[in-house]
Amino acid sequence: MTVENTKAQFCIEKRFETIPALDATRMRLFEVLQSDDVDIERVERIISTDPAVTAKVMKLANSPFYRHAQKHLGLHQSLLTIGLDMVKCISLSMTVMGTLKCETRYARDLWTHSYAAAVIAISLSASRAEKDRLFTGALLHDLGRMIFLFLAPEVYTALIDSERRCPGEELERQTFSLSHTQLGEMVARKWNFPGEIVEIISSHHRPVNHDSALICMINHVICRCGIEIPEADPQYLDIVRPFLGDALKDLVNTIVQRYKTNTAMIKSLF
Ligand SMILES: [Fe+2]
Ligand SMILES: [Fe+2]
Repeated sequence: MTVENTKAQFCIEKRFETIPALDATRMRLFEVLQSDDVDIERVERIISTDPAVTAKVMKLANSPFYRHAQKHLGLHQSLLTIGLDMVKCISLSMTVMGTLKCETRYARDLWTHSYAAAVIAISLSASRAEKDRLFTGALLHDLGRMIFLFLAPEVYTALIDSERRCPGEELERQTFSLSHTQLGEMVARKWNFPGEIVEIISSHHRPVNHDSALICMINHVICRCGIEIPEADPQYLDIVRPFLGDALKDLVNTIVQRYKTNTAMIKSLF
């Protein structure tokens, strides 16, 4: 291990305790949104006390994606326009973003990727319970990368630049002695996320069940959407097949389609 690597490892271990708790007020909004009897008036009341979330919701609802050219929508109409799934995306991501205070281009790119995964996961969910699980898991699957950017921004951005994309787990382990899946799992436990979300975060590159396999597939396909003809790597198809069955070509096409449909909407959030 090089001197730089030792320093980076030391930095991660030493700084782990400095990761703050999640903002309790914003988590309350997320919990309200998750509840079975969610009511829009209550959501509006809570959001209206948080200028940053209000601004984000209204920015999206008034973006060209939703085509409300004539009049500027207020908060209530904005909530109705974008729907509670997107409000949930915004609320959970801003809770984590606000906690980590990462505002660099690298963090923005990572959140854009995470939103895309979450929106596609929602669209592929069969039930309300599955939607809640997959949405949260997809939005936070790369939590470990976000934490690397928080704890060791210079070292991690240098890795991203050197790879010209998200660093692989092997390079992360060589540099920090742990990968983003391991670090993400540690932080998700520290923040008391449910076990099934922790499992998606820790297993999204080596699936162990249907949820982690689906997020693995979504992650893999959307990573390839920006760089080449988005055909899935056969190696990935092999690791998800035991959990997702054989109709993988259709699944890949659906993910590509949903990615293309939603890219403009996601970009208008940033
Ligand atoms: Fe990942
Ligand atoms: Fe990812």
